[in-house]
Amino acid sequence: MEGLKGLLRHVPAYVLLQRIVGADRLRYRCIEEIRPGETVLDVGCGPAYYFPRLPQPLDYHGFDTDARYIDWAEEHFGGANASFHCGNFDEAAARSLPPIDVVLLLGLLHHLSDEQCTRLLNLAASVLSPGGRVISVDTCFEPTQGRISRWMSANDRGEYVREPAAFEKLAMQSFGQVEGKVINDATHIPSSYWMMRMTAPNGPWAE
Ligand SMILES: C[S@@+](CC[C@H](N)C(=O)[O-])C[C@H]1O[C@@H](n2cnc3c(N)ncnc32)[C@H](O)[C@@H]1O
Repeated sequence: MEGLKGLLRHVPAYVLLQRIVGADRLRYRCIEEIRPGETVLDVGCGPAYYFPRLPQPLDYHGFDTDARYIDWAEEHFGGANASFHCGNFDEAAARSLPPIDVVLLLGLLHHLSDEQCTRLLNLAASVLSPGGRVISVDTCFEPTQGRISRWMSANDRGEYVREPAAFEKLAMQSFGQVEGKVINDATHIPSSYWMMRMTAPNGPWAE
């Protein structure tokens, strides 16, 4: 498993595996949320291989802690309306951004502890424009999944694969409205994902 994790830091291998597994189709469903002309923040963007599928025009800001992913994304997609930043998305980064219409957290929350998720979701809530939304999708454990899907969840690179209720509980600390659904049919290999749409920030930054 360590060998696979190392291989996935090699960007072409990561992108190829996403396509073989069908994880790209899951991302495409999430980005259907975005409308032309919107401002998008993508935290944990990885190589952002789904960038060409985003509606244009768009003002896009991607963040990831892995320099290999960010360098690849910058080389392939960087431009006047697309910037990629290597590092944690923190308070200083949040202050540097314009109001954000859509925050993407695609495959990120299951890599973060509860405390890290809470901090990130609060930050995401703080940068939203009026009517803005946060879209997340993560590998999950759910009661109806079969053995292969459960194995996929148990062996994911993320150390915090949760049940939907646990993801939802984290989201509800920062947002007044949280809608979620299990997706079992996106990938070619049986796998279960939990997608959430978070709106109406309920912190001090609420409208
Ligand atoms: C499963 S990958 C998803 C990448 C991309 N969003 C996608 O859907 O293909 C998770 C990404 O989150 C990044 N990551 C993990 N912890 C992070 C953090 N604290 N801040 C920003 N990125 C982080 C990892 O480097 C990795 O690229």
